[in-house]
Amino acid sequence: MGILHVATVFVILSFMAPVHSVLPGNPLVIDMTHTFDENTIYWPTLRHFKMTGVLRNYTVDGTWREESDIEGAEHGGTHLDAPAHFSKNKWRSHDIPVKRLMGPAAVADVSPKTAADADYLVTAEDFQLWEEKHGKIPDGCLLFVKTGWGKFWPNKLLYLGTDTRNTSLLHFPGLHPDGARWLVQNRGMHAVGIDTASIDYGQSKKYETHQILLAHNVLAFENVANMDKLPTTGATVYALPIKIGDGSGGPVRIVGIIENTKNPVRTPRPGQGQQVIDMTYTLDDTTLYRPGRKPFRLADVFRNYTGEYYYEGSVIQTTEHGGTHMDAPVHFSKNKWKTDDIPVERLMGPAAVVDVSPKAAADADYLVTAEDFQLWEEKHGKIPDGCLLFVKTGWGKFWPDELLYLGTDTRNTSLLHFPGLHPDGARWLVQNRGMHAVGIDTASIDYGQSTVYEAHQALFGNNIPVFENVANLDQLPAVGSVVFALPMKIRGGSGGPARIVGFVNKQEYSPTHVDL
Ligand SMILES: *[C@@H]1O[C@H](CO)[C@@H](O)[C@H](O)[C@H]1NC(C)=O
Ligand SMILES: *[C@@H]1O[C@H](CO)[C@@H](O)[C@H](O)[C@H]1NC(C)=O
Ligand SMILES: *[C@@H]1O[C@H](CO)[C@@H](O)[C@H](O)[C@H]1NC(C)=O
Ligand SMILES: *[C@@H]1O[C@H](CO)[C@@H](O)[C@H](O)[C@H]1NC(C)=O
Repeated sequence: MGILHVATVFVILSFMAPVHSVLPGNPLVIDMTHTFDENTIYWPTLRHFKMTGVLRNYTVDGTWREESDIEGAEHGGTHLDAPAHFSKNKWRSHDIPVKRLMGPAAVADVSPKTAADADYLVTAEDFQLWEEKHGKIPDGCLLFVKTGWGKFWPNKLLYLGTDTRNTSLLHFPGLHPDGARWLVQNRGMHAVGIDTASIDYGQSKKYETHQILLAHNVLAFENVANMDKLPTTGATVYALPIKIGDGSGGPVRIVGIIENTKNPVRTPRPGQGQQVIDMTYTLDDTTLYRPGRKPFRLADVFRNYTGEYYYEGSVIQTTEHGGTHMDAPVHFSKNKWKTDDIPVERLMGPAAVVDVSPKAAADADYLVTAEDFQLWEEKHGKIPDGCLLFVKTGWGKFWPDELLYLGTDTRNTSLLHFPGLHPDGARWLVQNRGMHAVGIDTASIDYGQSTVYEAHQALFGNNIPVFENVANLDQLPAVGSVVFALPMKIRGGSGGPARIVGFVNKQEYSPTHVDL
């Protein structure tokens, strides 16, 4: 079910929950991401994905609880290679300007050649032949090399050429170093994506193609899924990695958007009068959590020259629920959506921002009521169906000061003080309005003093995911912007780290934003 017209989604989901047209223009949305689980393909020698500390049970108060920690190398599954991965002093994950993570897609199909030769190397000539047919590779594009290897996922023997850890046995196509050199010298793409485990072919020993692209700050995306669903040109792709502080890459959620040509309205996209706002905190050792959760950590950090080249790579270890993250409905509501059950289309839509910061400033335990939403609607109109609804408490200004943001820097949860959504407010929303998700700029959608998390339960019971620790909410207008809130795609997850970006019309917003 990789490619779905929004109308199809409507039909499929309409008996589960109210679903409405999501993005302006009614485009097709393609999830170009493989799911993370224990079978996810990693580089044979790197630490594979693992869910640890899995909790799936009723608590003593009788409510359902699911949550886990996750770990794995930065470079497995559908992931980003940041320039620092093979190039010293170049951008690490958190340094990459968010506008470089999106652009028009150009798809170069070399699958007829690779079918006859698993060690095929894509040349400059392949790109030149492509250009004769389709025009110049656009500046600022994401260039996808389609080898056809996607059809082998997740069979390691077919996809990698071996299911052992012996890297001499790897066989899959890649990009010739001369092809990479031609690209960086002559074309202005933001990134190169491929549907194999590496942009260098399996038999590479020095990873020269990595070295060439990354030295020029051209990003690489590997193990890209569903490339065959993209047209050769005309789609726009958003590749949003989790935001690892000083990371050399990391898991990414990639979506392709194909405009509905019958509809004159356009989804926000680069170069179309939009400014993009990164609504995501960096994951590092200052990242805040509810007391008791496993903090984010980079383990097995390697940053040095090997015999032949410079290399950076690490292992990520984190709770699903720290920093800017999603709570999937199953977190507190048994049998509701897990992370990978949530159609990605529901996490992309118009944003509504309800500002309660004047009230929260006077009361750290403030609970947002149905009346607050009703007052907002008097000014801004009805909370739009299919929107992502954000509650702005003003708490973002305290991040990452634990004492101010959480109310305590101890592990005593009785001392937590921050505003949240009143259970009656949450119930009013799910009974009367059709938002697809709710976000907040505090550590929890329930206020700090909550012990039974009723707002979570009201939303989750209706399959509404929640985004917490959302950054830069003060940069979004009350209405009129569009937000993509894309979590890491964890199979059976109760949530996960998310990358959230907002698109604001240039006319509507201030000059402090990144200009696309
Ligand atoms: C679930 O919790 C109950 C008590 O609430 C306990 O008896 C049971 O062992 C738990 N199950 C698991 C798998 O932890
Ligand atoms: C790895 O495979 C190569 C090629 O078949 C072989 O020569 C080598 O001995 C293998 N190494 C190990 C450690 O098995
Ligand atoms: C980096 O590698 C060099 C040898 O290439 C070695 O002497 C040095 O100790 C290494 N540094 C670290 C921090 O591992
Ligand atoms: C946690 O804080 C509460 C409220 O101040 C206090 O009553 C309780 O004793 C504290 N618990 C611990 C374990 O310190």
